[in-house]
Amino acid sequence: MRRQTVTLLGIFAALSVRANEGMWLPFLLENNIGEMTEMGLHLTADDIYNINQSCLSSAVVGFVDLDMPFHHFCSGSVISAHGLVITNHHCGLNVVQQHSSLQNDYITNGFWAMNQADELGGNNIGVCFLRRMEDVTAQVLDGVNDTMTSSLRSNLITKNITNIEQTASANSTLKAHVDAFYCGNEYYLSVYEIFEDIRLVGTPPISIGKFGGDTDNWVWPRHTGDFTIFRIYADSLNRPAPYSADNIPYQASNHLKINAKQKQEDDFVMLMGYPGTTNEYLPSFAVEATQNTFDPLVVGIRSKSIDIIKERMRSDQSVMIKYTSKVASLANAWKKLDGERRGLAKKHVVSKKRERERLMTTWIEESDERKKLYSNLLDDYEADYIEYVNQNQAWLLMSETLYKSEAITVCRKIRTLINDKMEDSLRRTRIINYLNDFYTDYDPETDISVSKMLINEYMANALPEHVPATLKKGNGVTSFAHACRNSMFTNPAMAIAFFEKHSVINEKKLLKDPLYKLASETDDIYHDKISKQISQIQRKNNQHQRLFMQLQRECFASSQLFPDANSTFRIAYGQIKGYHPTDAISYAPFTTLGGIIEKCHMDVYDYTAPDHLIKLYADRNFGPYSNADSSLTVCFLSTCHTTGGNSGSPVFDTDGNLIGLNFDRVWEGTMSDLQFDADICRNISLDIRFVLFFIDKYAGASHLIDEMEIIY
Ligand code: ARG
Ligand code: GLU
Repeated sequence: MRRQTVTLLGIFAALSVRANEGMWLPFLLENNIGEMTEMGLHLTADDIYNINQSCLSSAVVGFVDLDMPFHHFCSGSVISAHGLVITNHHCGLNVVQQHSSLQNDYITNGFWAMNQADELGGNNIGVCFLRRMEDVTAQVLDGVNDTMTSSLRSNLITKNITNIEQTASANSTLKAHVDAFYCGNEYYLSVYEIFEDIRLVGTPPISIGKFGGDTDNWVWPRHTGDFTIFRIYADSLNRPAPYSADNIPYQASNHLKINAKQKQEDDFVMLMGYPGTTNEYLPSFAVEATQNTFDPLVVGIRSKSIDIIKERMRSDQSVMIKYTSKVASLANAWKKLDGERRGLAKKHVVSKKRERERLMTTWIEESDERKKLYSNLLDDYEADYIEYVNQNQAWLLMSETLYKSEAITVCRKIRTLINDKMEDSLRRTRIINYLNDFYTDYDPETDISVSKMLINEYMANALPEHVPATLKKGNGVTSFAHACRNSMFTNPAMAIAFFEKHSVINEKKLLKDPLYKLASETDDIYHDKISKQISQIQRKNNQHQRLFMQLQRECFASSQLFPDANSTFRIAYGQIKGYHPTDAISYAPFTTLGGIIEKCHMDVYDYTAPDHLIKLYADRNFGPYSNADSSLTVCFLSTCHTTGGNSGSPVFDTDGNLIGLNFDRVWEGTMSDLQFDADICRNISLDIRFVLFFIDKYAGASHLIDEMEIIY
């Protein structure tokens, strides 16, 4: 017995060496600060987060859509006393698009406000500052016990959370939100100040901001100048206020200093921001399903859609314009999931997880108390998970096929508008506006050929009871083609005319339209046969996962386990480092402007740089941002653990100065959402020196450089 304990302890100690893995909490940083100091950090935990004094985290922001204020779609940081905020180009692209027209094509040409009056406001985004964060688990679980049903439990928790949030935000402009951590074992409160008047200050042309496009997305070596600058505006008392011409630049309590010196491999780095979702503590069978079932399903179908759309884009310039951003969003997740399933396989994550589960089983066997709590857990979880795999496959299949057909999507959206409670005239305006928007980027020929492929996939794989009645006739595709020919929705003028003519719309009339009918059949199947079932089984999964998480924390108590990402404020740290993805290939951690020029000589659509940049390169006109060997760094790699939402995260040096902006991960390492592997998981950042060079030498916006605090 004693011997075994010793061996187990040995294994646990080995497992606890998890260099660079983790997304840590600001208010619990005391647990990490020792390791961070050993790795080279010169700051205290208080310098990083302290609710009573100016600290680094008070200059970090999350970007939100104003109608979803607690979902941070990107991160950013304040870089001047007058509210300048920097984030990624791809985070601000929607705003740039809104202000662009054929005459003022800011997407293609970039945009630089040469004074504050020219900064572009009226955007539907906000930035939030974390003002405080604390553990409220005891209050949230007040009254909860082990014998109550899961629905009673969740109602009580919801009620407690509402109380906490209301109290924390009462009589103030602050907004409070409680999130679940450790799969629902703990709850923390975040209190935010959210600014709503955010104006566009400067952005490079898309050829730089998205240099390499989808070809280079998720890929190293990378040369993307992925940055955009905004400014926060506030009311005359420096408080958050909706957009108004009377607002003035926000006077920031803290802003980052910028380190414009050259960095080296192995330098310590730290980053902060709002990572969205990770699933690091799943059991082996869940990872197996992701790797072998879910990811391949999505990747397989999307590959086919992307091929069809790209072919159409190549042959027709108008399709190129309409589908660039649609195909980018399809391709972004497609490529990520493909990297994920390959990484999981290559790194044998399933068998490593199984090994860990064996250790847990042994640990459970050691005491009656443990047995009482956990002995059936993994078996029950796995049995329920089989059911979940079936349900989730059905859902993914529908969402990746029928729900990706634009002809079906437009009808579903109309249907929602028709069933939403609102005044008839407002409804009609909304429908017509929506249709006008939708048709601006719609190409029926492209959509119909993609949709036919999607319907074939659906028919070949869906359960018979999940097939809409319309598609049951013929072989699915022929009925769909027939529906398209006879529907007004494939004809923009007809569809808009219909809603202009009918001021009150009754759904019966619409159900005569064959595409509308198909869309409503699809939605009904989803609601009656997929969504309910899946949420039921999800609830069971969540219960199992909560207990499984608790088990892992108890069993591996000697290693610090960080909570999965959940769009709350996190800190990650590591080093600047290259990597070896495959045999005989190793990557250096820095790319330079010379690499952009080299790529431009290749015959790849995504590789073009503006002439002005090529000229600056030819003249080696890099000013104080040049490296010792007269090169100019563009991007660098580091070992920080990041995920979607971390885009725009400030990357800091040992003294807490800004050195870069996180914007991506390497393809081989996208598995880090389920399992971080120090060998191949790397985050990609834009070097701040490229940003400064670009603003200064390319855009000539030296007034912005003057506003910043730069260490040369
Ligand atoms: N892969 C990054 C992310 O997940 C960047 C996406 C934008 N860039 C692009 N080339 N599509 O969001
Ligand atoms: N590009 C991602 C984002 O927008 C970050 C890359 C990642 O997933 O790590 O958040």
